[in-house]
Parts: sequence; C-alpha cells; structure tokens
Amino acid sequence: MKGYRLFIDITDEFLDKKIDEILSQNNIQSICDYGCGEGGLLQRIEARHPGRFKLCGIDYFSLWPEAMRPKSSGSINLVDRNGDEFKKIGAFDLIVSTFALHHYRLPVTELQQICEFLNPNGLLFISDMHFENKTDAEATKNIDSFVDEAFAACLGKFHRHHYTIEEVLDLLKAAPLSVIDSKIQRLPLDEVQWRKDGKNSLEYFTRKRDLLSKLNQPVLEQWFRNAFSQGVEMIDRFGVDYSAVFTIIAKKTE
Ligand SMILES: C[S@@+](CC[C@H](N)C(=O)[O-])C[C@H]1O[C@@H](n2cnc3c(N)ncnc32)[C@H](O)[C@@H]1O
Repeated sequence: MKGYRLFIDITDEFLDKKIDEILSQNNIQSICDYGCGEGGLLQRIEARHPGRFKLCGIDYFSLWPEAMRPKSSGSINLVDRNGDEFKKIGAFDLIVSTFALHHYRLPVTELQQICEFLNPNGLLFISDMHFENKTDAEATKNIDSFVDEAFAACLGKFHRHHYTIEEVLDLLKAAPLSVIDSKIQRLPLDEVQWRKDGKNSLEYFTRKRDLLSKLNQPVLEQWFRNAFSQGVEMIDRFGVDYSAVFTIIAKKTE
C-alpha cells in the first residue's frame, strides 16, 4: 500500500542523496528500511549499487490487501512486521526509517527494538516531516496533521501529528544511541511541485471523506465532515507546505 507522501519525486531524490552520503562515509554492508512501504527506497539503493548490500524492508504487509503486497526479490528481503520472520531478521549496519516515525504506535519501544537490530556501532538514519508553524501554509499542514491524528484515533488506528526535531531527539534518548548529526531542512519545491502538492492534499481529503461512515458515530462524523471541509477551504486559500523535514543520524552505543 502506498504510504502517503506528498512531492514524492523530490523527497526520493533528497533521501537518496542523504543515504549515499552515509554509505560513502561508513563501512556498510547491510541495510534495513523500517516502515519501508512499497520498498522503493531499497529498490533505488539496489539500482544504484547492484549486489553491494544485503537489503531488508519491514512493514505491516500482512495487513495490506494481497494484491498490493510487494514481494521480496533478488537481494531485497521484505518481512512482515507481524510475522514470525520479523524476530529473526538479524542485525544490520544501517537502519533507515523515512516518513514512518509519526506512524509508530509506541515510539520508545519501537526505537529500542530498532537498536536490537543494529550491529555494534550500527547507524540509524531517521527522517520525517518537521513540525514548524511559521507561515499560513505550514499552519494548514499542521492543522491537517492534528485532524489526521484525531481521525486515526477515532478509527482505532494510529497516526501522530508531525514531531518537532526536539521531540524526536528526546525520544531517541530512550534508546542506546548517540546522535551524530541532526538537521532541519527545507525541500526545494518549485511552483509546479507546490501546485501538485496542494492538489494531492485535496485528493487526500476526498479519500478521507469516504471513510467517515466507518466512524459509526454521528457526532464524530459531523465533526470530521466539518473539519475536512474546512481543511479543503484552507488549502485553497493559504496553500499547504510540507517542505520542512528533519534528518537525524545516530550511532548505536552498546
Ligand atoms: C508514510 S509511509 C512511508 C513509507 C516509506 N518509508 C516512504 O518513505 O515512502 C509509513 C510506513 O511506515 C509503516 N510503519 C509504521 N510504523 C511501523 C512499524 N512500527 N513497523 C513497521 N512499519 C511501520 C507504515 O505501515 C507505512 O507503510
């Protein structure tokens, strides 16, 4: 299932560059993508560096419709987060987790568990949307993400609003990791990407509207219907800005 991500091309390019920097500066032989979605990031690593790394992707594949589940192939092993194989995936020199942290149900436990899958001195690269509220378009994004958090919670699911980098650094203190590098960055969006982004956001609201009946509670349905309509109006009026992201590289200390 496609993890929802705006401006997909530009984030792919940004992540690939970051990962290649890490690969060129460290002795890495194995890479795990934790919350890999369809596995595009691993496929791109394999395409750029054929046969060089042992690659593994983790996601909740068994919860996806069969037809949409990506398959392991070549050096890429895809493992279901809820399956027996998960506990036996072994250890890796690098674990990456992109745009997934705000989906972790129990972030401290997940981060501690990720460390168990790291070799001694292994690296964790984590990147996600950064919560920033400097402009109207960013405020629109943040209101969206608060509504998403509330909506997911009411459906018995989990989707946190976007973290600030300070919150993430605080979460990482719970795991045996020392942070080597942490940055907030702005993805360089041009006019065309801005427009595409706004259009994607509007489509996303339409998809969410289709789920309203799953709430099974008129009061919630009414509240979210209003919230979604307001979200659409605000995107129309102020635009939406998802360009702030954080990147953190940390090393396992135990
Ligand atoms: C927004 S998508 C991002 C997918 C991909 N990493 C990317 O950058 O396009 C977030 C993904 O993380 C997965 N995810 C969230 N929490 C997870 C966890 N604890 N273990 C494994 N996968 C997780 C979700 O199922 C979803 O596919």
